[in-house]
Amino acid sequence: MVKIKTIFSCQSCGYQSPKWLGRCPACNEWNSLAEETSLPPSLLRDGVSISPDRSSSPIPIDRIKTDQGERIETEIKELDRVLGGGIVRGSLILIGGDPGIGKSTLLLQALNKLGEKKLKVLYVSGEESINQTKIRGDRLDASSSNLYILAENSLEKILEEIKILKPQCLVIDSIQTVYTTSMESAPGSVGQLRGSSIKLMYLAKKTGIPIFLIGHVTKEGVIAGPKVIEHLVDTVLYFEGDRGHPYRILRATKNRYGSTNEIGVFEMGDCGLLEVSNPSEIFLAERSIGVAGSVVVPSIKGTRPILVEVQALVSPAVFGTPRRTTLGVDHNRVSLLAAVLEKKAGFSLLNQDIFLNIAGGVKIDEPALDLGIATSIVSSLLNKSIDPKTIIFGEVGLAGEVRGISHWEMRVNEAVKLGFKKCLIPHHSKNLSNFHSLIDIKRIDSLRDVVEYLF
Ligand SMILES: Nc1ncnc2c1ncn2[C@@H]1O[C@H](COP(=O)(O)OP(=O)(O)OP(=O)(O)O)[C@@H](O)[C@H]1O
Ligand SMILES: [Mg+2]
Repeated sequence: MVKIKTIFSCQSCGYQSPKWLGRCPACNEWNSLAEETSLPPSLLRDGVSISPDRSSSPIPIDRIKTDQGERIETEIKELDRVLGGGIVRGSLILIGGDPGIGKSTLLLQALNKLGEKKLKVLYVSGEESINQTKIRGDRLDASSSNLYILAENSLEKILEEIKILKPQCLVIDSIQTVYTTSMESAPGSVGQLRGSSIKLMYLAKKTGIPIFLIGHVTKEGVIAGPKVIEHLVDTVLYFEGDRGHPYRILRATKNRYGSTNEIGVFEMGDCGLLEVSNPSEIFLAERSIGVAGSVVVPSIKGTRPILVEVQALVSPAVFGTPRRTTLGVDHNRVSLLAAVLEKKAGFSLLNQDIFLNIAGGVKIDEPALDLGIATSIVSSLLNKSIDPKTIIFGEVGLAGEVRGISHWEMRVNEAVKLGFKKCLIPHHSKNLSNFHSLIDIKRIDSLRDVVEYLF
C-alpha cells in the first residue's frame, strides 16, 4: 500500500515541519501550520521535460538560435516598459496588489489589446462569473472576438480547455482561487498555491504561452503565500496606488528579462485604466506654489526622467528625541542629511522634528535627491520658500560637498520641457552649452553654497 506522507506547512511563510507546531519557528506566526500532503510524484514527473527546446546535452552558447520576435507587445506602453519591452514568450508573470486596485482591469485591457492584434487569448476568472467579467469588459470596451473568457477554478479543467483552445496568452485571476486535484490540501493553502503554480510554470515553459498570474496580497502588502512562488516566476509586478487618488503605479520587483527600475503610471477612470505618458505633470499638478519646504527634483526612473516634489515640514520637537518621519524616501538618508546640515551648514536641527514626503505616492531611492531633501528641510526651517520655477539635484557627501550624478542632461531636458527657468546642478556636470539659452544654470559645489544662494 502506498503510504501518503503528510507535512505541516506554515501558511504565511511556507516553512515545513514533520509535526504540528503552535508557532512557526521561521516567521513566528501563531497557529499558521496546516496539514498537507507532500508534492505528489506525478507533479514532479511532469517536470522532467520542462521546455521543448531543453537540450539533453550541453550546447555552446553561440550556437543557440533564438527566434526573432520573442516579445509580444501589448500596445499598453506603460505595461510593456515595466515588462522590459513586451511580454516574453513562455514567461510566467505574477502581479500583486491591494484589493480593488485594478489588477483584473489592467489585464483584461491588455488581453483585449492582444486580441485586437489577432492573437487568441484566454482570461480565466476564478473570482467572477462570465457575466460579471462581461460587464467589466463592456465598461472597458473590451470586445475583441479573440478574447475568450472562462470562469473556472479547477486547474485540470483549465489545462484541458487550454489544450483545446491553444491560446497565445493566458491570465489566471487569481492564483489563490485555483486548485489542483493532485494535491489534497484545501484551495488557497500554500500547498495548493505551490502545486498550481508549478503546473502552470511547466505549461508556460513547455508551450511558450506567456501566463499572467494575479496574486492577492496580505495585510503587510506582500503577495500571499510563501516566497516560493516569487522564486518560481520570471517576473513579479506590484500594482500600487492610493485609494484617494486615481493614479496607479506598476512596478517590477523581480524581472528576469528587464530592469526592475522602470515604473508604469496609469490613471483609473470610468472606462478603465488610462496610460499616463508624462508622469511629471501629474506629480506636480497639485503643487502649491510659493510654499516653504517644497522643492522640485528631477529623478530618473528606469529610462525616463520624472519630476517629483519633495515636501518637508520642520517643527519644534515636543519630546526629547526629535522625530524623522519619511514617506517615499529612505529614513536613514534623511537623518544623515540632517546631520550634515547641522555640522557643515550650521543649522540646528537637534530640537526639531522633520517630516518628509514625496508628493504623489512615488518612492525614490537615488542619491540625486539629496540636495532636494536638504534644501527643502532648510526652506521649511527658515520658513522661506524657494522659487517654484527652480529644480535642484545632486548628491550630498558627508563633508557637505555636492557630488555629480548620472543622466543630468535628461533631467535638465525634462525640466525645460515643463517650463522650469532655473536649475541648480553639481559643479562637475559638463557640456552645458546646449542649455544656456533654455534655462538658467547655476553650478554649485557645496551645501553651504546652495544655502547661501537660495536663502
Ligand atoms: N464604473 C466605474 N467607474 C470608475 N471606476 C470604476 C468603476 N468600476 C470599477 N472601478 C474601479 O475599478 C476598481 C476595481 O478594479 P479591479 O476589479 O480590476 O480590481 P482588482 O485589483 O482586480 O480587485 P480584486 O483584488 O478585488 O479582484 C475599483 O476599485 C474602482 O476604482
Ligand atoms: Mg480582480
